[in-house]
Amino acid sequence: MNSDIRKLFPATQNYVYLNSASVAPLPVTAVEAVRRQLLDVSENGAEHYAEWIDTKKRARQLIADNLGVGPAEIAFMRNTSDALAAVANGYFAARPEITEGANIVSFAGEFPANYYPWRAIRDRLGVELRLCRESDGRVDPDELISLIDTRTAIVAISAVQFDSGFQSDLSLISAELKKRAGDASLLVVDVIQAFGARAFDIPRLGVDAVAGASHKWLCAPEGCGFLYVSKAARELIEPVYTGWMSVTEPWDFLDREQPLKPNALAWETGTGCSALFYGLEASLKLLTDVGMDNIAAYLERLSDQLCEMLAGTNYEIISSRRAGEKSQIVCIRHRGGRDANSIAAELAERKIIVSARNGRLRIAPHFFNDESDLDRLLAALPK
Ligand SMILES: Cc1ncc(COP(=O)(O)O)c(C=O)c1O
Repeated sequence: MNSDIRKLFPATQNYVYLNSASVAPLPVTAVEAVRRQLLDVSENGAEHYAEWIDTKKRARQLIADNLGVGPAEIAFMRNTSDALAAVANGYFAARPEITEGANIVSFAGEFPANYYPWRAIRDRLGVELRLCRESDGRVDPDELISLIDTRTAIVAISAVQFDSGFQSDLSLISAELKKRAGDASLLVVDVIQAFGARAFDIPRLGVDAVAGASHKWLCAPEGCGFLYVSKAARELIEPVYTGWMSVTEPWDFLDREQPLKPNALAWETGTGCSALFYGLEASLKLLTDVGMDNIAAYLERLSDQLCEMLAGTNYEIISSRRAGEKSQIVCIRHRGGRDANSIAAELAERKIIVSARNGRLRIAPHFFNDESDLDRLLAALPK
Protein backbone atom coordinates (compact mmCIF):
# COMPACT_ATOMS: atom_id res chain seq x y z
CA MET A 1 0.00 0.00 0.00
CA ASN A 2 2.76 2.37 0.96
CA SER A 3 6.31 2.07 2.15
CA ASP A 4 5.46 3.34 5.67
CA ILE A 5 3.25 0.31 6.26
CA ARG A 6 5.85 -2.03 4.83
CA LYS A 7 8.45 -0.63 7.22
CA LEU A 8 6.29 -1.63 10.19
CA PHE A 9 6.70 -5.28 9.18
CA PRO A 10 10.35 -6.39 9.44
CA ALA A 11 9.43 -9.74 7.87
CA THR A 12 9.06 -7.90 4.54
CA GLN A 13 12.80 -7.24 4.63
CA ASN A 14 13.63 -10.88 5.28
CA TYR A 15 11.16 -12.59 2.98
CA VAL A 16 8.65 -12.30 0.22
CA TYR A 17 6.01 -13.18 2.75
CA LEU A 18 2.80 -14.35 1.06
CA ASN A 19 1.52 -16.53 3.87
CA SER A 20 -0.85 -14.48 6.02
CA ALA A 21 -3.47 -17.22 5.60
CA SER A 22 -1.22 -19.27 7.87
CA VAL A 23 0.27 -16.79 10.37
CA ALA A 24 0.80 -13.13 9.53
CA PRO A 25 3.99 -11.42 10.65
CA LEU A 26 3.58 -8.91 13.48
CA PRO A 27 4.04 -5.18 13.00
CA VAL A 28 6.66 -3.64 15.29
CA THR A 29 3.92 -1.62 17.00
CA ALA A 30 2.29 -4.84 18.25
CA VAL A 31 5.59 -6.21 19.52
CA GLU A 32 6.29 -2.94 21.36
CA ALA A 33 2.84 -2.99 22.93
CA VAL A 34 3.26 -6.57 24.19
CA ARG A 35 6.68 -5.69 25.56
CA ARG A 36 5.22 -2.65 27.36
CA GLN A 37 2.69 -4.74 29.25
CA LEU A 38 5.21 -7.43 30.17
CA LEU A 39 7.62 -4.79 31.41
CA ASP A 40 4.82 -3.27 33.44
CA VAL A 41 4.11 -6.59 35.20
CA SER A 42 7.81 -7.07 35.75
CA GLU A 43 8.24 -3.64 37.35
CA ASN A 44 4.86 -3.09 39.00
CA GLY A 45 3.08 -6.40 39.46
CA ALA A 46 -0.67 -5.84 39.16
CA GLU A 47 -0.62 -2.14 40.15
CA HIS A 48 -1.79 -1.12 36.68
CA TYR A 49 -4.36 -3.90 36.33
CA ALA A 50 -7.05 -1.37 35.39
CA GLU A 51 -5.00 -0.37 32.33
CA TRP A 52 -4.76 -3.98 31.22
CA ILE A 53 -8.54 -4.26 31.43
CA ASP A 54 -8.96 -0.99 29.53
CA THR A 55 -6.69 -2.26 26.76
CA LYS A 56 -8.72 -5.44 26.46
CA LYS A 57 -11.87 -3.31 26.30
CA ARG A 58 -10.47 -1.15 23.52
CA ALA A 59 -9.39 -4.24 21.55
CA ARG A 60 -12.90 -5.65 21.98
CA GLN A 61 -14.39 -2.36 20.76
CA LEU A 62 -12.16 -2.38 17.66
CA ILE A 63 -13.20 -5.93 16.80
CA ALA A 64 -16.84 -4.99 17.33
CA ASP A 65 -16.53 -1.83 15.19
CA ASN A 66 -15.03 -3.75 12.30
CA LEU A 67 -17.76 -6.39 12.50
CA GLY A 68 -20.54 -3.81 12.81
CA VAL A 69 -21.71 -5.14 16.19
CA GLY A 70 -21.71 -4.08 19.84
CA PRO A 71 -18.79 -4.84 22.18
CA ALA A 72 -20.98 -6.81 24.61
CA GLU A 73 -21.63 -9.24 21.76
CA ILE A 74 -17.94 -10.17 21.57
CA ALA A 75 -16.27 -12.66 23.93
CA PHE A 76 -12.55 -13.32 23.87
CA MET A 77 -11.68 -17.00 23.59
CA ARG A 78 -8.42 -18.90 23.18
CA ASN A 79 -8.89 -19.49 19.48
CA THR A 80 -11.39 -20.08 16.67
CA SER A 81 -11.82 -23.72 17.64
CA ASP A 82 -12.98 -22.87 21.16
CA ALA A 83 -15.43 -20.32 19.79
CA LEU A 84 -16.96 -22.86 17.39
CA ALA A 85 -17.09 -25.55 20.08
CA ALA A 86 -18.83 -23.09 22.43
CA VAL A 87 -21.60 -22.57 19.88
CA ALA A 88 -21.91 -26.23 18.92
CA ASN A 89 -22.14 -27.51 22.48
CA GLY A 90 -24.11 -24.57 23.87
CA TYR A 91 -26.80 -24.59 21.21
CA PHE A 92 -27.69 -28.26 21.61
CA ALA A 93 -27.36 -28.15 25.42
CA ALA A 94 -29.93 -25.36 25.51
CA ARG A 95 -32.37 -27.18 23.24
CA PRO A 96 -32.14 -30.96 23.78
CA GLU A 97 -35.71 -31.37 22.49
CA ILE A 98 -34.71 -30.45 18.94
CA THR A 99 -31.88 -32.93 18.44
CA GLU A 100 -33.96 -35.82 17.12
CA GLY A 101 -34.33 -35.45 13.37
CA ALA A 102 -32.29 -32.25 13.34
CA ASN A 103 -29.43 -31.64 10.94
CA ILE A 104 -26.35 -29.45 10.62
CA VAL A 105 -25.31 -28.25 7.17
CA SER A 106 -21.70 -27.49 6.37
CA PHE A 107 -19.03 -27.82 3.69
CA ALA A 108 -16.89 -30.95 3.35
CA GLY A 109 -13.74 -28.91 2.77
CA GLU A 110 -13.99 -26.71 5.86
CA PHE A 111 -10.81 -26.29 7.88
CA PRO A 112 -11.04 -28.98 10.60
CA ALA A 113 -11.66 -26.37 13.34
CA ASN A 114 -15.09 -26.01 11.77
CA TYR A 115 -15.70 -29.75 11.49
CA TYR A 116 -14.80 -31.51 14.72
CA PRO A 117 -17.25 -29.60 16.97
CA TRP A 118 -20.10 -30.60 14.63
CA ARG A 119 -18.82 -34.16 14.28
CA ALA A 120 -18.93 -34.40 18.09
CA ILE A 121 -22.59 -33.30 18.07
CA ARG A 122 -23.32 -35.88 15.37
CA ASP A 123 -21.63 -38.67 17.30
CA ARG A 124 -22.93 -37.73 20.75
CA LEU A 125 -26.49 -36.65 19.96
CA GLY A 126 -27.23 -38.31 16.62
CA VAL A 127 -27.76 -35.01 14.81
CA GLU A 128 -27.27 -35.51 11.08
CA LEU A 129 -24.27 -33.75 9.54
CA ARG A 130 -24.86 -32.85 5.87
CA LEU A 131 -21.79 -31.80 3.93
CA CYS A 132 -21.74 -30.06 0.57
CA ARG A 133 -18.81 -31.11 -1.66
CA GLU A 134 -16.36 -28.77 -3.36
CA SER A 135 -16.71 -28.35 -7.12
CA ASP A 136 -14.07 -26.49 -9.16
CA GLY A 137 -12.66 -24.64 -6.15
CA ARG A 138 -16.16 -23.47 -5.17
CA VAL A 139 -18.69 -24.08 -2.45
CA ASP A 140 -21.65 -24.17 -4.80
CA PRO A 141 -24.30 -22.04 -3.07
CA ASP A 142 -27.17 -23.92 -4.75
CA GLU A 143 -25.83 -27.25 -3.53
CA LEU A 144 -25.25 -25.94 0.00
CA ILE A 145 -28.71 -24.40 0.14
CA SER A 146 -30.31 -27.59 -1.25
CA LEU A 147 -29.17 -29.37 1.93
CA ILE A 148 -31.11 -26.96 4.17
CA ASP A 149 -34.62 -27.99 5.20
CA THR A 150 -37.12 -27.29 7.99
CA ARG A 151 -35.01 -29.37 10.45
CA THR A 152 -31.72 -27.58 9.85
CA ALA A 153 -30.49 -26.29 13.19
CA ILE A 154 -27.15 -24.85 12.09
CA VAL A 155 -25.34 -23.88 8.94
CA ALA A 156 -21.61 -23.69 9.70
CA ILE A 157 -19.40 -22.19 7.01
CA SER A 158 -16.21 -20.17 6.63
CA ALA A 159 -16.49 -16.71 5.13
CA VAL A 160 -13.39 -17.59 3.06
CA GLN A 161 -12.17 -21.17 2.58
CA PHE A 162 -8.62 -21.93 3.69
CA ASP A 163 -7.58 -24.09 0.72
CA SER A 164 -9.38 -22.35 -2.15
CA GLY A 165 -9.94 -18.75 -1.03
CA PHE A 166 -13.61 -19.16 -1.98
CA GLN A 167 -15.80 -16.48 -0.44
CA SER A 168 -19.37 -17.49 0.42
CA ASP A 169 -22.42 -15.27 0.00
CA LEU A 170 -23.42 -15.10 3.65
CA SER A 171 -26.54 -13.01 3.22
CA LEU A 172 -27.92 -15.44 0.64
CA ILE A 173 -27.24 -18.43 2.91
CA SER A 174 -28.76 -16.63 5.90
CA ALA A 175 -31.91 -15.66 3.99
CA GLU A 176 -32.41 -19.24 2.75
CA LEU A 177 -31.75 -20.72 6.18
CA LYS A 178 -34.24 -18.46 7.96
CA LYS A 179 -36.83 -18.97 5.24
CA ARG A 180 -36.64 -22.76 5.42
CA ALA A 181 -35.73 -23.44 9.05
CA GLY A 182 -36.97 -20.38 10.94
CA ASP A 183 -35.46 -17.96 13.41
CA ALA A 184 -34.23 -20.60 15.85
CA SER A 185 -31.71 -21.83 13.28
CA LEU A 186 -28.22 -20.32 13.35
CA LEU A 187 -25.78 -19.27 10.67
CA VAL A 188 -22.36 -19.76 12.27
CA VAL A 189 -19.41 -18.30 10.38
CA ASP A 190 -15.67 -18.80 10.79
CA VAL A 191 -14.16 -15.47 9.68
CA ILE A 192 -10.49 -16.15 10.42
CA GLN A 193 -9.53 -16.28 6.72
CA ALA A 194 -11.20 -12.96 5.97
CA PHE A 195 -11.42 -10.61 8.94
CA GLY A 196 -8.60 -8.06 8.73
CA ALA A 197 -8.36 -8.44 4.98
CA ARG A 198 -11.86 -7.00 5.01
CA ALA A 199 -14.43 -5.77 7.52
CA PHE A 200 -17.94 -7.17 7.90
CA ASP A 201 -21.39 -5.82 8.61
CA ILE A 202 -22.48 -8.92 10.45
CA PRO A 203 -26.08 -7.89 11.28
CA ARG A 204 -26.71 -6.88 7.67
CA LEU A 205 -25.43 -10.27 6.50
CA GLY A 206 -27.78 -12.04 8.91
CA VAL A 207 -25.01 -13.99 10.63
CA ASP A 208 -25.89 -15.22 14.14
CA ALA A 209 -22.53 -16.31 15.50
CA VAL A 210 -18.96 -15.62 14.40
CA ALA A 211 -15.69 -17.31 15.35
CA GLY A 212 -12.27 -15.89 14.59
CA ALA A 213 -8.79 -15.29 15.88
CA SER A 214 -5.90 -12.89 15.88
CA HIS A 215 -2.97 -14.48 14.12
CA LYS A 216 -3.89 -14.41 10.44
CA TRP A 217 -5.37 -11.34 8.75
CA LEU A 218 -5.45 -9.30 11.97
CA CYS A 219 -1.63 -9.47 12.14
CA ALA A 220 -1.77 -9.91 15.92
CA PRO A 221 -0.20 -12.40 18.33
CA GLU A 222 -1.57 -15.94 18.46
CA GLY A 223 -3.89 -16.63 21.36
CA CYS A 224 -6.64 -14.02 21.02
CA GLY A 225 -9.64 -15.85 19.63
CA PHE A 226 -13.08 -14.32 19.72
CA LEU A 227 -16.73 -15.27 19.53
CA TYR A 228 -19.57 -13.01 18.42
CA VAL A 229 -23.04 -14.01 19.50
CA SER A 230 -25.96 -11.81 18.49
CA LYS A 231 -28.47 -10.80 21.14
CA ALA A 232 -31.03 -13.21 19.66
CA ALA A 233 -28.52 -16.06 19.40
CA ARG A 234 -27.50 -15.49 23.05
CA GLU A 235 -31.03 -16.67 23.95
CA LEU A 236 -30.49 -19.89 21.99
CA ILE A 237 -27.00 -20.84 23.14
CA GLU A 238 -26.19 -21.85 26.69
CA PRO A 239 -22.70 -20.98 27.91
CA VAL A 240 -21.86 -24.56 28.91
CA TYR A 241 -18.35 -23.71 29.92
CA THR A 242 -18.38 -20.91 32.49
CA GLY A 243 -16.08 -19.45 35.11
CA TRP A 244 -15.76 -16.75 37.74
CA MET A 245 -15.78 -13.97 35.14
CA SER A 246 -18.95 -15.25 33.46
CA VAL A 247 -21.21 -13.76 36.15
CA THR A 248 -22.64 -10.25 36.41
CA GLU A 249 -20.54 -9.21 39.44
CA PRO A 250 -17.33 -11.24 39.26
CA TRP A 251 -15.65 -9.18 41.98
CA ASP A 252 -18.39 -10.02 44.46
CA PHE A 253 -16.77 -13.23 45.60
CA LEU A 254 -19.41 -13.95 48.23
CA ASP A 255 -22.56 -14.06 46.11
CA ARG A 256 -22.31 -17.51 44.57
CA GLU A 257 -25.83 -17.55 43.15
CA GLN A 258 -25.51 -14.59 40.84
CA PRO A 259 -26.72 -14.85 37.26
CA LEU A 260 -24.51 -15.20 34.23
CA LYS A 261 -23.89 -12.08 32.19
CA PRO A 262 -26.80 -11.66 29.77
CA ASN A 263 -24.52 -11.16 26.75
CA ALA A 264 -21.55 -12.76 25.03
CA LEU A 265 -19.29 -11.86 27.96
CA ALA A 266 -20.73 -14.90 29.79
CA TRP A 267 -18.34 -16.99 27.66
CA GLU A 268 -15.26 -15.35 29.16
CA THR A 269 -14.36 -17.70 31.96
CA GLY A 270 -11.39 -16.12 33.72
CA THR A 271 -8.12 -14.24 33.38
CA GLY A 272 -7.01 -13.59 29.82
CA CYS A 273 -3.72 -12.99 28.04
CA SER A 274 -3.25 -9.29 28.88
CA ALA A 275 0.09 -8.87 27.10
CA LEU A 276 -1.34 -10.34 23.91
CA PHE A 277 -4.35 -8.03 24.08
CA TYR A 278 -1.88 -5.12 24.00
CA GLY A 279 -0.50 -6.54 20.76
CA LEU A 280 -3.99 -7.19 19.43
CA GLU A 281 -5.04 -3.62 20.13
CA ALA A 282 -1.96 -2.23 18.35
CA SER A 283 -2.55 -4.37 15.26
CA LEU A 284 -6.27 -3.60 15.18
CA LYS A 285 -5.48 0.11 15.45
CA LEU A 286 -3.13 -0.12 12.50
CA LEU A 287 -5.67 -2.00 10.35
CA THR A 288 -8.46 0.35 11.41
CA ASP A 289 -6.39 3.47 10.74
CA VAL A 290 -5.57 2.23 7.26
CA GLY A 291 -9.21 1.14 6.95
CA MET A 292 -10.26 -2.46 6.39
CA ASP A 293 -12.30 -1.35 3.37
CA ASN A 294 -9.17 0.21 1.86
CA ILE A 295 -7.24 -2.96 2.62
CA ALA A 296 -9.95 -5.05 0.92
CA ALA A 297 -9.86 -2.84 -2.19
CA TYR A 298 -6.06 -2.98 -2.29
CA LEU A 299 -6.01 -6.77 -1.91
CA GLU A 300 -8.58 -7.19 -4.64
CA ARG A 301 -6.32 -5.25 -7.00
CA LEU A 302 -3.22 -7.15 -5.90
CA SER A 303 -4.82 -10.59 -6.18
CA ASP A 304 -6.34 -9.70 -9.57
CA GLN A 305 -2.89 -8.64 -10.69
CA LEU A 306 -1.40 -11.90 -9.46
CA CYS A 307 -3.96 -13.84 -11.49
CA GLU A 308 -3.14 -11.80 -14.60
CA MET A 309 0.55 -12.52 -14.08
CA LEU A 310 -0.18 -16.25 -13.75
CA ALA A 311 -2.05 -16.38 -17.05
CA GLY A 312 0.06 -18.15 -19.66
CA THR A 313 2.30 -19.81 -17.05
CA ASN A 314 2.37 -23.48 -16.20
CA TYR A 315 0.02 -22.87 -13.26
CA GLU A 316 -3.73 -23.30 -13.16
CA ILE A 317 -5.74 -21.02 -10.88
CA ILE A 318 -7.99 -23.14 -8.68
CA SER A 319 -9.66 -20.24 -6.84
CA SER A 320 -12.89 -18.85 -8.19
CA ARG A 321 -12.20 -15.33 -9.44
CA ARG A 322 -15.84 -14.49 -10.00
CA ALA A 323 -17.07 -11.23 -8.45
CA GLY A 324 -18.37 -11.92 -4.94
CA GLU A 325 -16.56 -15.28 -4.75
CA LYS A 326 -12.94 -14.22 -5.06
CA SER A 327 -10.82 -13.23 -2.07
CA GLN A 328 -7.26 -12.21 -1.31
CA ILE A 329 -6.24 -15.90 -1.22
CA VAL A 330 -5.22 -17.36 -4.59
CA CYS A 331 -4.67 -21.11 -4.87
CA ILE A 332 -2.87 -22.59 -7.85
CA ARG A 333 -1.71 -25.97 -9.13
CA HIS A 334 1.17 -26.89 -11.41
CA ARG A 335 -0.21 -28.09 -14.75
CA GLY A 336 2.53 -30.67 -15.07
CA GLY A 337 1.59 -32.28 -11.76
CA ARG A 338 4.50 -31.02 -9.70
CA ASP A 339 3.89 -31.49 -6.00
CA ALA A 340 2.79 -28.35 -4.15
CA ASN A 341 4.78 -29.24 -1.02
CA SER A 342 8.02 -29.52 -2.94
CA ILE A 343 7.37 -26.24 -4.78
CA ALA A 344 6.64 -24.47 -1.47
CA ALA A 345 9.86 -25.90 0.00
CA GLU A 346 11.84 -24.78 -3.06
CA LEU A 347 10.40 -21.27 -2.80
CA ALA A 348 11.13 -21.15 0.94
CA GLU A 349 14.79 -21.81 0.20
CA ARG A 350 14.68 -18.60 -1.80
CA LYS A 351 12.93 -16.82 1.09
CA ILE A 352 9.58 -16.77 -0.65
CA ILE A 353 6.95 -18.00 1.75
CA VAL A 354 3.66 -19.55 0.64
CA SER A 355 1.77 -22.61 1.91
CA ALA A 356 0.90 -25.92 0.33
CA ARG A 357 -2.64 -26.96 1.23
CA ASN A 358 -4.35 -30.08 -0.09
CA GLY A 359 -2.18 -30.28 -3.19
CA ARG A 360 -2.46 -26.55 -3.95
CA LEU A 361 -0.05 -23.69 -3.55
CA ARG A 362 -1.76 -21.02 -1.50
CA ILE A 363 -0.63 -17.47 -2.14
CA ALA A 364 -1.93 -15.08 0.47
CA PRO A 365 -0.84 -11.44 0.15
CA HIS A 366 -1.69 -8.85 2.81
CA PHE A 367 -1.56 -5.05 2.85
CA PHE A 368 2.20 -4.98 3.53
CA ASN A 369 2.82 -6.84 0.26
CA ASP A 370 3.20 -5.08 -3.05
CA GLU A 371 3.82 -5.72 -6.73
CA SER A 372 7.52 -6.32 -6.17
CA ASP A 373 6.61 -9.39 -4.06
CA LEU A 374 4.50 -10.75 -6.90
CA ASP A 375 7.32 -10.15 -9.39
CA ARG A 376 9.74 -12.08 -7.21
CA LEU A 377 7.27 -14.93 -6.74
CA LEU A 378 6.59 -15.23 -10.46
CA ALA A 379 10.29 -15.19 -11.26
CA ALA A 380 10.94 -17.97 -8.73
CA LEU A 381 8.00 -20.30 -9.47
CA PRO A 382 9.43 -23.45 -11.12
CA LYS A 383 8.35 -23.70 -14.77
C1 LIG B 1 -10.78 -21.52 8.28
C2 LIG B 1 -9.90 -21.71 9.48
N1 LIG B 1 -10.46 -21.78 10.70
C3 LIG B 1 -9.72 -21.91 11.81
C4 LIG B 1 -8.34 -21.97 11.74
C5 LIG B 1 -7.52 -22.05 12.98
O1 LIG B 1 -8.28 -22.26 14.13
P1 LIG B 1 -7.67 -21.91 15.56
O2 LIG B 1 -7.74 -20.42 15.73
O3 LIG B 1 -8.56 -22.64 16.49
O4 LIG B 1 -6.28 -22.44 15.59
C6 LIG B 1 -7.71 -21.93 10.47
C7 LIG B 1 -6.25 -22.01 10.28
O5 LIG B 1 -5.42 -22.32 11.03
C8 LIG B 1 -8.52 -21.77 9.34
O6 LIG B 1 -7.96 -21.70 8.12
